[in-house]
Amino acid sequence: MSLLPRRHLSGLNADVSVIGAGCWTIGGPVTNRGTPIGWDDVDPDAAFAGLVHALERGVTLYDTADVYGLGHSERLLGRLLRLVPRQDLTISSKVGYFAGTARHAYHPAQMRAQLATTLDNVGTDHLDIYFLHSSDFGPDDRYLLDAADLMQTWRAQGVIHAVGMRAPHRFAEEWAATDGPQAAETRRWLHLYDQVRPDVVTTRYNLLSPLYADHETDIFRFARRNGLGVLIKQVLGQGLLLQAGSDPDQRQYSIGDHRRADPTFTPDSRRQLHARLAPLRDRYGHSPANMARLCVQYALHHAPDAAILVGFRNAEQIDTVLAALDHPLHADDITQIRAVLHDNPYID
Ligand SMILES: NC(=O)c1ccc[n+]([C@@H]2O[C@H](COP(=O)([O-])OP(=O)(O)OC[C@H]3O[C@@H](n4cnc5c(N)ncnc54)[C@H](OP(=O)(O)O)[C@@H]3O)[C@@H](O)[C@H]2O)c1
Repeated sequence: MSLLPRRHLSGLNADVSVIGAGCWTIGGPVTNRGTPIGWDDVDPDAAFAGLVHALERGVTLYDTADVYGLGHSERLLGRLLRLVPRQDLTISSKVGYFAGTARHAYHPAQMRAQLATTLDNVGTDHLDIYFLHSSDFGPDDRYLLDAADLMQTWRAQGVIHAVGMRAPHRFAEEWAATDGPQAAETRRWLHLYDQVRPDVVTTRYNLLSPLYADHETDIFRFARRNGLGVLIKQVLGQGLLLQAGSDPDQRQYSIGDHRRADPTFTPDSRRQLHARLAPLRDRYGHSPANMARLCVQYALHHAPDAAILVGFRNAEQIDTVLAALDHPLHADDITQIRAVLHDNPYID
């Protein structure tokens, strides 16, 4: 068993383990204004054992948020931080979704309160990356400039080391100049990007992500050109891409698990995905470990300068995903996967 490889994260200007521990899942079930925003019940001891296992395997990057378990996830991470010098870990958290008060989540007073709570929960005096989690900045973006300024101030003070911002699931810079279906969202994001001036972005990328033409600037190319670090999320399709080997009808999502309200997770959608992935399971194996290898290696191949965040609920889950690093894919495999899943595979 070898320690994990590291990658240099532009924007933060630091090396991080190529796989980071995504700590949303371990926050457990949560609802926010009646909407499920968490995950199925998680045993806190098993979740902590997962964190410790990640640490022992060499994971140095840990991503959490104020709304993950409404502080529960941050506090679990705080327990882990007591086991290791602060400077050995890269900790990221987020602000922007908490709806526990009458104030908007990006009201400056609310942001200050949330940052103080997060630092207290984690037991640290600084965050390596602090994300603006939501793109709702109030009516007419009332809180946008203040939120952006506050983040830059904290960055200058050293309370945070990098400003983070989420990118759209689908993005090519060129779409902003078209009248296509993604144009408005792309223009909106580029506008927010100009205001916020982030150092790091987070984006979804997995086996099902669209392919981009050579003339298109996807988020990874955009980040490279602008010196941004990229953290990739949903590499495992929030569990869907690993579960596809078992009967997709069996899984029920509890109240408080956001997947319960997501059309991607209905039995019908899961059955369709199951069929779409069948040729890959037949070729690479049916177990979660086999599918985790495809998910992790496919993302790493596409973005050799990004780090991946993976969610987990216990040591076994994260161990399975970390083990995927030991089994690279070849260029032929990538071509084959694209041919199976996409109409227009290309080799990059
Ligand atoms: N998704 C977002 O919008 C978002 C935004 C910002 C940051 N992030 C970060 O990204 C992290 C990763 O989360 P994600 O949303 O991207 O999900 P993900 O990593 O694609 O999926 C995680 C889920 O996959 C399942 N899983 C993991 N290992 C498994 C194994 N070995 N066998 C079977 N199932 C397994 C678990 O779910 P079950 O056991 O419950 O099925 C786990 O919670 C988050 O924790 C968060 O830190 C996510």
